[in-house]
Amino acid sequence: MEAETKERIAIVGSGLIGRCWAMLFARAGYFVSIYDIDSEQVKGALAATLPMLLDMESRDLLGGQKASDIQKQIQGTNQLEEAMQGAIHVQECVPESVDLKKRVFAQLDEHASDTVVLSSSTSCIVPSLFTEGLKHRSQCIVAHPVNPPYYIPLVELVPAAWTNPDVVRRTRALMADIGQAPVTLNKEVNGFILNRLQYALIMEAWRLVEDGVCSPEDVDTAMVEGLAPRYSFMGIFETMHLNADGMKDYCERYGANIKTVCETQSPARDLSGRTLSVVDDAMQRKVPVSGLGDRRKWRDRRLAALAVHKMMMKKEEAKSINP
Ligand code: NAI
Repeated sequence: MEAETKERIAIVGSGLIGRCWAMLFARAGYFVSIYDIDSEQVKGALAATLPMLLDMESRDLLGGQKASDIQKQIQGTNQLEEAMQGAIHVQECVPESVDLKKRVFAQLDEHASDTVVLSSSTSCIVPSLFTEGLKHRSQCIVAHPVNPPYYIPLVELVPAAWTNPDVVRRTRALMADIGQAPVTLNKEVNGFILNRLQYALIMEAWRLVEDGVCSPEDVDTAMVEGLAPRYSFMGIFETMHLNADGMKDYCERYGANIKTVCETQSPARDLSGRTLSVVDDAMQRKVPVSGLGDRRKWRDRRLAALAVHKMMMKKEEAKSINP
């Protein structure tokens, strides 16, 4: 199966995340131009994408396409203007700094057509902080991926107050078209959705250890063997809905107790001091810092296997709806 060739996408910043975006857009048939301030980074990105695509091909995650064909859809350039020429969407992937994002978005603004979407990969900077004074500010949005995006498809879309709703709609459609799972925030909030949920869990895990309730290892076991299996294919609200006779029944039965427990979960703690030593010791026993590289490879293999499983699940569900 070959993806039809679609419009052009520009990637600005060709580090870890820029390379991933390039592969995702190219896999869906878009023509991708990668720009970086450092020409060596562009060369590195072009060299790094083929092995990653081959790995995806071996897992049947390219929709029957050949890695080498997808790679041909990706080109590099050292000229921002050239990268943006004719692009319908620019995905900025420079390091996480408000000042740098401001400078780069000012450059994007200079070369932007009146229709291109200017999108940032920022993990936690709300878009109003770096787009306010721009001529094309209504075309700016955040599209925050999760690493590695080809195995974890969530993309959080965060508009500023001045972002044109049509830009939100077009970005959401584009993300769905490349096989990602977009979610849209109606307004800016620190941490977006994913990190607000993640930080709530981190804080409670910390509190349980700090208050001597259990060990760091047992917190992680509760997550991996308890919460995570369901959450990998079903969300928080659906889990509640299924754990009783529907959502209303769940809230009637458990709501008061949940509130009582949650009232004991503040204030926020500092992630430092003696608890940090306890948690760090536990993690070092499990994975010494020298072994993190291998463990990350293991994590990515498991994520790849999970992505394959979820792809099969979606195919089966689609078949049962349209036999
Ligand atoms: P990185 O450090 O791997 O790559 C950044 C690239 O930007 C480098 O190649 C650098 O040469 C280039 N660059 C620096 N200044 C530039 C400029 N003025 N113009 C063009 N290129 C420039 O960074 P990474 O990890 O790819 O992160 C990029 C963005 O993606 C950040 O905002 C980060 O928060 C976000 N992000 C990162 C994730 C991760 O796990 N690494 C996950 C989700 C989002």
